[in-house]
Amino acid sequence: MHWCHTTTFPPSLVQPLITYSHRLIAYLQIIWCFHVALLVDLIMDLIHKFLNLVAPPFTFFSLCFVLPPLLLYRSFLWVFNSIFSEDVVGKVILITGAASGIGEHLAYQYAKKGARLALVARREQLLEEVANRAGELGSPHVLMIIADVQKVDDCSRLVEETIGHFGRLDHLVNCAGIMSMSMLEEINDISSFRTVMDTNFWGSAYTTRFAIPYLRDSGGKIIVLSSSASWLPAPRLSIYNASKAALLIFFETLRVELGSDVHVLIVTPGFIESEMIQGKVLTSEGRMDVDQDMRDILVSATPIRTVSGCAKAIVNSACRGDKYLTDPAWFRMTWLWKVFCPDVLEWCYRLLQLTRPGEPAAGAPSKKVLDMTGGKKVLYPETVQTPELKKE
Ligand SMILES: NC(=O)c1ccc[n+]([C@@H]2O[C@H](COP(=O)([O-])OP(=O)(O)OC[C@H]3O[C@@H](n4cnc5c(N)ncnc54)[C@H](OP(=O)(O)O)[C@@H]3O)[C@@H](O)[C@H]2O)c1
Repeated sequence: MHWCHTTTFPPSLVQPLITYSHRLIAYLQIIWCFHVALLVDLIMDLIHKFLNLVAPPFTFFSLCFVLPPLLLYRSFLWVFNSIFSEDVVGKVILITGAASGIGEHLAYQYAKKGARLALVARREQLLEEVANRAGELGSPHVLMIIADVQKVDDCSRLVEETIGHFGRLDHLVNCAGIMSMSMLEEINDISSFRTVMDTNFWGSAYTTRFAIPYLRDSGGKIIVLSSSASWLPAPRLSIYNASKAALLIFFETLRVELGSDVHVLIVTPGFIESEMIQGKVLTSEGRMDVDQDMRDILVSATPIRTVSGCAKAIVNSACRGDKYLTDPAWFRMTWLWKVFCPDVLEWCYRLLQLTRPGEPAAGAPSKKVLDMTGGKKVLYPETVQTPELKKE
């Protein structure tokens, strides 16, 4: 008697069974992967929720703990560095944008300290006047280099000429810059505004790239003119502001890369007496022009700092080895408004500097306040009250 009997499937059923079982396995795998993915998503979500809860109090209490000793250490360092400030007698300082404004006066301040200078700009005659004056003020040797920092070859040449002439480089001052002023929607040809980024950002980035090997050799310094515009969302300055914000993070990152080999000072001025603050801007037509109405809307009743005072503060700060400088110092407070109340800042800019559609820009409340009070006579240095630029 046979108790066990074997069931044999007819061959016609075997193949479909194999196919179905493969499909079933594939479906199960998909469902499994889907569940694993869901689980991973869930865990990641939980981790972020946990960090969202924990990071703010952790940061707050860490700052309470870390800030007091850090501030004390910084104050001590500031006093120490002020006493043992760098002596730049005979040192080689390369300044771009030295034909006018801040760059021109930086040349005078370094000259007074006995530094040798390489001065860069495009307008030859103006640069020559600055070079002569720097010589009179005490610079033992001034080299003039006519170059356009928008061009990478010019940036390479200006560094090589400096090294060829002096054999070393101690401070590189990236100061060349232009300002654009137009609502984005009013710009005729947006591509003509590339020149702002090319001058302000790429001009500094190219020159710095070529200068770094020589600055490493001398344990030198980079000084860069960013701006408080890097954090303030003033209307009509979107592209200028972006170029200055780009400079800020570029040089902060570079500072990490270079460590203690090359020191980086980032300068973020407020409003400083110069051709730019005289109203020389790139207009919506893509032309460099003097537009003092637009300047008045922007600056309004804010006191403009003298350029000699600002240049002196920058050179002292560079010699002291500071990492940041805002001049005038009170302008730094605007950064607190930006961090803690960005919406209030935006609202103030809209209210004060913009007009209703169809109304002329010159009707902006910020300009009306300036015109009605006559504040310009007191708050603006004489050089920026006239629309006449220095003649070549
Ligand atoms: N004034 C302020 O309130 C203020 C505030 C914050 C930041 N800044 C920054 O400070 C820097 C100096 O500006 P400033 O106020 O002194 O204005 P400025 O008087 O107009 O000086 C700008 C200088 O840059 C030079 N320059 C412009 N384009 C150049 C190019 N493509 N190649 C070489 N040189 C060039 C100009 O000379 P050439 O035209 O002869 O080339 C001039 O010497 C700028 O980077 C600006 O953004 C100024």
